[in-house]
Amino acid sequence: MKIFALCGSPRKNNSRTAQLLKQVLAGAQLEGAETEYVDLSESKINYCFGCGKCHKLGECIQKDSFNSLFGEILQAEGIILGSPVYAGHITAQLKTWFDRLANAIHCQRLAGKYGMVISTANGSGHEDAANYMEKVLRRIGVQVVDRMACTIPGGLLPEEAELLSRARDLGVTLARAIAEKREFPEQLEEQERLRNHYRQVILRNKDVWEWEYRYIQEKGWL
Ligand SMILES: Cc1cc2nc3c(=O)[nH]c(=O)nc-3n(C[C@H](O)[C@H](O)[C@H](O)COP(=O)(O)O)c2cc1C
Repeated sequence: MKIFALCGSPRKNNSRTAQLLKQVLAGAQLEGAETEYVDLSESKINYCFGCGKCHKLGECIQKDSFNSLFGEILQAEGIILGSPVYAGHITAQLKTWFDRLANAIHCQRLAGKYGMVISTANGSGHEDAANYMEKVLRRIGVQVVDRMACTIPGGLLPEEAELLSRARDLGVTLARAIAEKREFPEQLEEQERLRNHYRQVILRNKDVWEWEYRYIQEKGWL
């Protein structure tokens, strides 16, 4: 079992979001998971420039780290997203990765995988950020097992210790959900509705979006 964590904080070792994500991974390791932590601020991931070629080819034409990272995530069973709140929402680092997921959204490329989200803020915006991260994960096919959306006003070490142990428990929960192939019926129903919607969109464009048409055909979603 492999689980990826993607962190949207640019603060590297000073990042509290990173600390929490690493605890989730540590919890998952206790259940035997192999884990990988990715600092998006250190990855070379450019802005999407909206060419739409990913619908035709099944991958992005840009020569940066996006395709190789996405390919590795495709081989994993779990994905955890983390972001601090900047100006009321997720950071640009994570949003830039999200913007590159147009093909993944159309085809629910991560269907069958499980995920979690973590957001941290000084005072507010953490729920909005967590809701949005969950929404994107569900749209690419992931079933979201749980989340942590928290405020960390700063300097409250006992509170942070409690958060760290909660994060570790979340990692255990995620790994167990993967092992048990747990089902979240409401999320699966929502994903089926979205698949029906995108099937129509892909059918309308099937002469151009060759890869996506072939993909949903092979998946039996036509
Ligand atoms: C540029 C910037 C913008 C921020 N905007 C907000 C905000 O809108 N609301 C908030 O509650 N906290 C805000 N914060 C505080 C961070 O969300 C908070 O400290 C977070 O836990 C930092 O996470 P990190 O340590 O993982 O980078 C901001 C911090 C920075 C540096």
